[in-house]
Formats: sequence, C-alpha cells, structure tokens
Amino acid sequence: MVDYELEKIVVDLYRENKWKDIVDLKDTADCFQKLRLLWVWPDFDDLNWLKNVITKKNVREIVSIGCGSGLLEWLLQKHLGIVMIGVEVDRKWWSSGYSPPLFLNTIHFIDEENDSFKILPSQALLFCYFNNGPAFLNYMNEYRGKMVIIIGPGEGRGSCTDPAPFDKKFLDLGWILESAREIRNTKDYIAVYVR
Ligand SMILES: C[S@@+](CC[C@H](N)C(=O)[O-])C[C@H]1O[C@@H](n2cnc3c(N)ncnc32)[C@H](O)[C@@H]1O
Repeated sequence: MVDYELEKIVVDLYRENKWKDIVDLKDTADCFQKLRLLWVWPDFDDLNWLKNVITKKNVREIVSIGCGSGLLEWLLQKHLGIVMIGVEVDRKWWSSGYSPPLFLNTIHFIDEENDSFKILPSQALLFCYFNNGPAFLNYMNEYRGKMVIIIGPGEGRGSCTDPAPFDKKFLDLGWILESAREIRNTKDYIAVYVR
C-alpha cells in the first residue's frame, strides 16, 4: 500500500463501520500517514486482553488524554463496548486542513475557557504515546479514580514518551502495576496501573 492511500482506506472503512477491517491493517509499516492516524495498532488478541482487564475492574468509560485523531479510541469503543472520551488541546489546529480526520464523537479541548469537562472517579484514564510530562503529572494529581492505562514504547523501541509504560513515576505516585502486555512483537506495551 502506498503511504498516501492509507488515510483514504481507513476513512472509507470507518464510514462503513468496518472497524474489524481497520484492525486487520495492523501490519502497516510506520509511515507519516500511519502516525497521523495512530501510534499503536493493536490486534484482536491485544483488544481481548484489554477487554478482560477492564471488565474485571468494572470499567465502563475511558478518558483518553491526548487522543489525537481518536482512531485507536474508536477501535477500543467498538471492540470493548465501552464509552471512550477524548481530550486534546488546540481545537483550531484539529479543525484545520493540516489535521488528520477525527474518528471520535466526543473530544474535549481542555484549553478552551468554556470547557467545564471533569474526569469522574468512575472513569479510567488512558495515555497513548503521550509526550507531555508536566501535563501528565497535573492530570494524575487531579484524578480521583482507580485505573490508568499507559500505551507506549518499551526498551529498544527507539522512541520515547512521557510517561513511559514502566515509568518509575507510577510507584512514586502510589500506583501498582496490575497487568502489562507487549502489543504483538512491536516493543510497544500496554501497562495497566491500579490503586
Ligand atoms: C504523540 S501524540 C499521540 C496521539 C494519540 N494518542 C496516538 O496514540 O495516536 C500526543 C498527543 O498529545 C496531545 N497533548 C499534548 N499535551 C496535551 C495536554 N496537556 N492535554 C491533552 N492532550 C495533549 C498532543 O496534541 C498530541 O495529539
């Protein structure tokens, strides 16, 4: 598949609600268009694994901080049968011609003065390839809930995020690693913390 075709293929499948076909594109090599859509492409085993973890803990809603296009969140919403809410910054950019298409219905832009969005204790938090350490700490300090999911690179992946999935910060903040899994053989990991 040529790089520039990917976005069109994904948008067409999204419009037809063919989310399983989008999951099947998981082996697409990293390229500019792929990373505009999402940084980590889970397969059905990964999605089932996450479904088990959150079902065990009775989680029905996840707030994804820094959701980007929201494609990963839309796939999670479909497979896990839960509500996914996105949080981003800079609506103007995400509404501009430079932005990738957006896949999630509910995205809050937290830098808007009139946004009164509050994360509830019953909601879990997700940070996927988040790269803003100070903002991460602010979100964690405000959060009163019990589950945080981190998706990002492990050792040897060649990229870095803040937080990283196995960041020492979590222990310092009083969180316990409940479960973790490598996403296929990518050296990207999902880590689920609870308290
Ligand atoms: C590397 S991207 C990852 C996007 C998406 N989660 C993914 O995996 O494809 C990090 C995202 O975090 C967003 N971001 C940065 N600071 C933020 C903040 N304080 N609150 C919410 N989102 C933020 C950026 O706008 C960017 O879209």
